[in-house]
Amino acid sequence: MKVFQKLDDFLNFGWAQISRGKADKKSPARHPTFVTSSADGFPNARTLVMRRCDRQNNQIEFHTDNLSSKMLALKENPRAGIHIWLPKVQLQIQMDVVVEVKAGDITIPYWRNVPTNSRIAYGTIPGPGTVIGSPLAYNHAPDQQRFAVLVCNIQSIQLLLLGTKHIRAYYKKTTNWQGEWLSP
Ligand SMILES: Cc1cc2nc3c(=O)[nH]c(=O)nc-3n(C[C@H](O)[C@H](O)[C@H](O)COP(=O)(O)O)c2cc1C
Repeated sequence: MKVFQKLDDFLNFGWAQISRGKADKKSPARHPTFVTSSADGFPNARTLVMRRCDRQNNQIEFHTDNLSSKMLALKENPRAGIHIWLPKVQLQIQMDVVVEVKAGDITIPYWRNVPTNSRIAYGTIPGPGTVIGSPLAYNHAPDQQRFAVLVCNIQSIQLLLLGTKHIRAYYKKTTNWQGEWLSP
């Protein structure tokens, strides 16, 4: 088991794991849980594919359908959570993020990079979450105007490493990612 004595080393390790989400298709970091809050007070958690991560700018990016319920939730409250569990290295990563939603013509350059066979995820008719009469009573109509990019601006990162002795730390953008150890 790794034992980190320095906060910086632990954060570097956390970011190395986050980055694998983009670089390594087999990494569980590729499929974070993305959590929004809704008007009824229940949090909504769902799996999304990590499309980009950028330590320099503290960003993680997801793509989604404009008509999905998360879009409404983000309009009401752009603060969201990201959760990743990496069983191989026994690391949990939790992030608070503020989400900038990009939709409409601004996504045209992004849309160009979405492989044709992946585009069917954006434009289902009727829209995602609509009640339908039978399991396959929907059609795909890929549509750039239904495509949205969620740029998640990371505000904090919390790491929990399981071991004989667990290690936990919390890092905030407001303190320039200096970090502090927490009792697990
Ligand atoms: C492995 C996996 C990957 C997924 N990737 C995405 C994704 O990248 N974007 C997306 O909008 N939905 C993705 N989904 C579907 C979402 O989990 C969710 O069902 C959908 O976005 C509707 O969410 P909402 O109604 O809560 O907004 C994925 C689901 C799974 C199981």
